[in-house]
Amino acid sequence: MKRINSDKGYTTHLQPVFIIGTYNEDGSPNFCPITWVTSSHDGPQGLMVISMNGPKKTKKNIARTGVLSANLVSIDMLEMLDYFGSHTGLDAPKNALPYEYEDGYVLNVPTLNISRRVFECQVVNTFETSDTITYFCKSMNRQEIEGLCGKKEDTDLLEPLVYTGRYHKLGEYLGEMETFYKTKETGTMTNTELVKIVEKFAECGWDAIDAPAKKWLAANASADTTLELIKAVQQADKDCGSCGCEFDPLYKKALELLHADSN
Ligand SMILES: Cc1cc2nc3c(=O)[nH]c(=O)nc-3n(C[C@H](O)[C@H](O)[C@H](O)COP(=O)(O)O)c2cc1C
Repeated sequence: MKRINSDKGYTTHLQPVFIIGTYNEDGSPNFCPITWVTSSHDGPQGLMVISMNGPKKTKKNIARTGVLSANLVSIDMLEMLDYFGSHTGLDAPKNALPYEYEDGYVLNVPTLNISRRVFECQVVNTFETSDTITYFCKSMNRQEIEGLCGKKEDTDLLEPLVYTGRYHKLGEYLGEMETFYKTKETGTMTNTELVKIVEKFAECGWDAIDAPAKKWLAANASADTTLELIKAVQQADKDCGSCGCEFDPLYKKALELLHADSN
């Protein structure tokens, strides 16, 4: 794909969203969606880096208290997200929508009961540019729902919302880290069963499958051709994976092996 220069200014990245919780002067909570959140592995609990642009009640509250909660947004929080994001606590308390919250476990911050992962953050530094404050925060405590195992199944449990300027769900699972490049680096295809199946695909005479299969074989299972092949096989399986021909089980087996390679 050819890239062109863009004359447009700011562009939104594809990110999760957190709802930042702070307490107002009178002790009532204020919640504000922020997508400019990232983290760094700095110490046992990590460092959260959070940027906020323009006037905000949240900024005022943080300037006063030095603490905040970051509540990961899951797709069941859409209505609340939309509401908190389109109203500012500078105008009036945001209490048109019912929600439950409780105080943090270690910090005096409001946390949303519905959120499946919550960080309690202490601001340790700030960096100001023209209209934005970036907060560097020590995560003093993290709470999350039970059952998370650090594996791909976690995304099913967390159901994080993805913000692109619009709202999305996460897409398909592609594989584990350090499994795609390893295949390329060793220059060998260890999974002979998979290679045999892909060789069959390469000779099947159906463009949609034989072209990506040939590319995959020629590129020695490189990461980009693997992705292309997975997509083509998924589509083939969807379109005619139960037509009764010899390829029906091979689509499924190939997908299993392509994914298993990355586990
Ligand atoms: C999905 C979503 C993501 C947002 N992300 C950011 C962000 O990353 N940074 C920012 O400055 N404002 C962001 N906003 C805007 C704030 O949420 C909005 O200004 C809010 O009204 C501020 O509330 P407050 O004044 O009560 O703190 C976002 C809004 C939405 C709906």
